[in-house]
Amino acid sequence: MYIIQKCVMSLDGYIDAASGDRLMLSSKEDFERRDSVRAQCDAILVGAGTLRADNPKLLSKSSRPLIKVTLTQSDTIDLKSNFFTIGSDKKLVYCPDRKVKKLQMKIADLAEVVGGGAKQVDLRFMLSDLERRGIKKLMVEGGSQIGTLFLQQGLTDELQLSIAPFFVGQKNAVRFVGPGTFFNDLNNRMNLVSVEKLGDTALLTYYLKR
Ligand SMILES: NC(=O)c1ccc[n+]([C@@H]2O[C@H](COP(=O)([O-])OP(=O)(O)OC[C@H]3O[C@@H](n4cnc5c(N)ncnc54)[C@H](OP(=O)(O)O)[C@@H]3O)[C@@H](O)[C@H]2O)c1
Repeated sequence: MYIIQKCVMSLDGYIDAASGDRLMLSSKEDFERRDSVRAQCDAILVGAGTLRADNPKLLSKSSRPLIKVTLTQSDTIDLKSNFFTIGSDKKLVYCPDRKVKKLQMKIADLAEVVGGGAKQVDLRFMLSDLERRGIKKLMVEGGSQIGTLFLQQGLTDELQLSIAPFFVGQKNAVRFVGPGTFFNDLNNRMNLVSVEKLGDTALLTYYLKR
């Protein structure tokens, strides 16, 4: 499976403000590019934190089906969120094995619940399961925790990092990634393949595995 990770950050490395409404970082052109990438993918993944914070619709503008995927450890998933209520393509919720029964009862036929590990979902297991379901191209759209896990575990093939031309400047705002050990460290630099100007936003595309 080929994994494209997409993120938009401010010049000071934040992907959302500390509080309040969803922060619009992308230019119109960057949103259009995101839509064209989604249209080439078979599935789109965001963490439950992003569902709670942004309530994204996660739709594709193409007629090609786009399976929606999320990950949760808790039972605090909101069934009225756009993830569940908008779009007719399949929806998958990965959670720890012990939560499957309870969550599937709660979610009923709005989505399929899949157990993916003891305490938390093992991302490699989830990716193999998605592959078994025929997913060849997965788009990972955040948020911070999920994006960090993919980059630390070296799961992402291509990072599309957009940079908005302003600063957020809030100490408690959401960062692009958290601290830890990354697959692409000083000794394993990413391969920068293109730099594009999309309106006032810069899109940097990297290949992570050489
Ligand atoms: N600018 C951008 O490109 C962009 C894109 C997307 C999101 N965002 C921003 O990112 C923020 C959200 O980021 P976030 O870090 O709070 O949330 P997140 O990464 O979207 O989701 C984190 C949640 O995913 C679940 N999770 C993570 N790892 C798991 C595992 N291994 N197994 C099972 N569940 C797991 C947990 O859900 P439970 O808590 O339910 O257990 C966890 O709280 C928002 O402010 C949003 O606006 C920005």
